[in-house]
Amino acid sequence: MKFSIQKTDWKRVRTTAVAFFQPEDRRALQATIKHFGRTSVATAAEALLATGDMAGKAEETFVIYPRKSEAAAKRILLVGMGKKDKLSLEIVRRAASRAAKKAEGTKSRSLAIYLPEIKGHSGAEVAYAAVEGIKLGLYKYDKFFKREEPKVSLENVTVLEDGTSLAGSSAEEVNAAIAEAETVCNAVIFAREMENEPSNNKYPETLANWAKQVASENGLKITVFGPKELLANKMVGIISVNQGSVKEARFVALEYLGAPKKDAAPIVLVGKGITFDTGGISLKPGAGMADMKSDMSGAATVIATLKAASDLKLPVNVIGLISCAENMPSGSATRPGDVITYANGLSVEIDNTDAEGRLVLADALIWASRYKPKSVIDLATLTGACVVALGHVTTGMMGNDTSMMERLKRSGDSTYERVCELPIYDEYDELIKSDVADIKNVGGRWAGAITAAMFLKRFTDYPWIHLDIAGTARSESASDYIPKGGTGVAVRLLTHMLKEEANA
Ligand code: BES
Ligand code: MN
Ligand code: ZN
Repeated sequence: MKFSIQKTDWKRVRTTAVAFFQPEDRRALQATIKHFGRTSVATAAEALLATGDMAGKAEETFVIYPRKSEAAAKRILLVGMGKKDKLSLEIVRRAASRAAKKAEGTKSRSLAIYLPEIKGHSGAEVAYAAVEGIKLGLYKYDKFFKREEPKVSLENVTVLEDGTSLAGSSAEEVNAAIAEAETVCNAVIFAREMENEPSNNKYPETLANWAKQVASENGLKITVFGPKELLANKMVGIISVNQGSVKEARFVALEYLGAPKKDAAPIVLVGKGITFDTGGISLKPGAGMADMKSDMSGAATVIATLKAASDLKLPVNVIGLISCAENMPSGSATRPGDVITYANGLSVEIDNTDAEGRLVLADALIWASRYKPKSVIDLATLTGACVVALGHVTTGMMGNDTSMMERLKRSGDSTYERVCELPIYDEYDELIKSDVADIKNVGGRWAGAITAAMFLKRFTDYPWIHLDIAGTARSESASDYIPKGGTGVAVRLLTHMLKEEANA
């Protein structure tokens, strides 16, 4: 998809469709109608207003067909944005995704848009949000469908610069914002592709290969451990979780050193890369198990964020660590009650083989220490309990790096990939005491998202944050720019944070 800016208007622009974003406000509607001059489009829009069919509500999208003599475009889209006092960048993302879907749904190959005015935000920011809505909204995981007819997709998007329509930003600023948004969205889409890949095509080695792809495209250093190196480095969590699988486990370190000082303390991102989670011997119930193909979403986010950071050449040092295993039941699988001892000397009783995420993350958290990190952020589809607590609306955040947590909250609000803090009080430690080892890997019925974090905390000796994305990494139903299935959550969040970090 190609984005560009053109100094022209809705009548002259040579695209198949032109979209107008419309707040729920009579005066704004009247202003749009005025814009249409004495055309049949104005007449149609007047009727929409007079009948009350269109008020500018967020669920309204109308198509008006201009006469050939009136406009080069075949379709004029009026896209509702909802209440005027509630306009925000998130509203722009959503409205832009609806415009793009309407355009593609009517087999338009090109779309022109007017940037709406959003109080408190520059035209560049609005353009950025529009690109996010369009690119992320049009994403589909459709590679397995047999095609009866050729696919028509939106190929060109034009931002119209007509009078003050760039909302106070220069064309250069808007162009830069568009390019950056495209880069970040490509990384999000890459994460979604990895998440949606079925597990007969996706093994620990596959995750390592995706990381290698990013490394070779952007010249990053990459280290991949297979069974031999895992053993040599006492990565017992990964080994134990993977030992029921016929596939080999992997641990990957991906290094992007973009800061002016190569030895500046890095931010380390750690991802859970379970390519399928059956639960192991503590087998999961069958219903919904297919979703566990995305139990590598944390790893996908880490790989994709390193791609975004290096594509954007952000002046920060970022290390990505991913622990990759397949959690399968078999004659060689780990049993409940087994005890493993980690490289840091801590022993763990595996009370439930379905609490495997924390087991593989622990190896990576121990490994992270050698980078003398400024902060370590782990991402994992870790607990059903987090979904019970927060649903699919927000990611659970726990940790002790309070300043980074504040930054993530701010980045979460900006990107709308929001994070919500849960406590990690010392008292919760009681719940993971074991009779036979230093700790056990499950904490019983209560506070499941938190006891998982308490477990992880035992393997950290640096400022640390845990993001439980169990509820946000997959979506159960499509909404504007979030498709059903893998969402690529936290790529935009982390990239935003890294950019702020670079500016700090
Ligand atoms: N991958 C699951 C968590 C999960 C559940 C992710 C639902 C996405 C949606 C994780 O490995 C798991 O099985 N957790 C257990 C932990 C329990 C055994 C303490 C859970 O949440 O039930
Ligand atoms: Mn599990
Ligand atoms: Zn899991």
